[in-house]
Amino acid sequence: MKVSKKIINLETESAFAILAKATKLASEGKDIINLGIGQPDFPTPRNIQEAGIKAIKDGHHGYTPSNGILPLREAVSEQIYNDYNVNINSDQILITPGGKPTIFYSSLILGCKGNEIIYPDPGFPIYRSMIKFSGAKGIPLELSEEDNFEININKLEKLITKKTSLIIINNPNNPTGSFMNKKKIDEIVKMLEKYPDVFIMSDEIYSKIIFNDQEMPSFINYESIRDRLIILEGWSKTFCMTGWRLGWSMWPKKLYEYANKLCVNDHSCPNIISQYAGLEALKGPKDEIKKIKQEFQNRKNFVHKKLNELENMTCFEPGGAFYAFPNISLSGYNGQKFSDIALEEKGVALVPGTSFGNSAKNFVRLSYANSMENLEKAIYKLSAI
Ligand SMILES: Cc1ncc(COP(=O)(O)O)c(C=O)c1O
Repeated sequence: MKVSKKIINLETESAFAILAKATKLASEGKDIINLGIGQPDFPTPRNIQEAGIKAIKDGHHGYTPSNGILPLREAVSEQIYNDYNVNINSDQILITPGGKPTIFYSSLILGCKGNEIIYPDPGFPIYRSMIKFSGAKGIPLELSEEDNFEININKLEKLITKKTSLIIINNPNNPTGSFMNKKKIDEIVKMLEKYPDVFIMSDEIYSKIIFNDQEMPSFINYESIRDRLIILEGWSKTFCMTGWRLGWSMWPKKLYEYANKLCVNDHSCPNIISQYAGLEALKGPKDEIKKIKQEFQNRKNFVHKKLNELENMTCFEPGGAFYAFPNISLSGYNGQKFSDIALEEKGVALVPGTSFGNSAKNFVRLSYANSMENLEKAIYKLSAI
């Protein structure tokens, strides 16, 4: 069998394996609370669902341009303007099947043997996987509890070399729930201005789930680095549309055609029905989304308080996304063992910190995309580990 060496380097996202294990245990009759999965537990808002149904009935069944339908790209530009007061032409916007392709494409375009790509650790596991696949050397940037899991700028700067082609940043962060405010992003950009050959991929997929009335400090706002900036965004988390597979990205003009060619080669175009639903999400009423954000904030407050009352863990306060990242070292177990016991003995699915890199051995990720009732039950069960 002559399997490509590249494919052997490919890693996976263990949240999916945990979901499969939890589903299997549930099908065998075990009472399982799933706090492992990273998707909102709310249905896609009704008006968006209906726009999808209407798209089918209106006969939208065929291919679209590979970069997405123009009205949708224009709606994204308009949203960028409304959110950040920046004019980005729709010809820099690429619509893709979810946010993941942006990780894939930026790694393939900027990663090859001899190049280095810096990525957050702990961080979304697909970064490391795709960097390895591209042939580039992945350089982990450790995010540590003592920095509130924010980027330590000195640490980051020390990792930049002549070989660095790309730096991946994720704010708000999966898995920690950490959020870096504008002051912090200002400082990061100031440092990045010294390295004009390095591209930046800012994964802002959780930009609309931030708490305590903070404003999202998007990298889009910084003109000094915009000609080497890729933004990863999408509908999955904001509009509860994970299964619709719809994302958008902003590309520097000099890379756009490479990314678009990858789209043609990979999937021809994004799903047309999802694109019409995505258009309604951007243009239609946002009341449901506001309620969902408030509910996440309530849950965050509850989970943060309750976890810190337990004797076997401590938890820093998340500023965004829907994850808590408790340090469970007081339990005497590492994150992997703690998650195994949580699932097998207590029926609570969590994800060990090591699923997100090598640095967070004593942590677990708990997704509070679940009802208050289940969160309360699950935390009670975890208290006994
Ligand atoms: C940080 C981060 N980036 C990207 C993605 C991918 O999103 P999508 O489901 O739209 O591909 C996820 C999904 O969990 C994520 O957590």
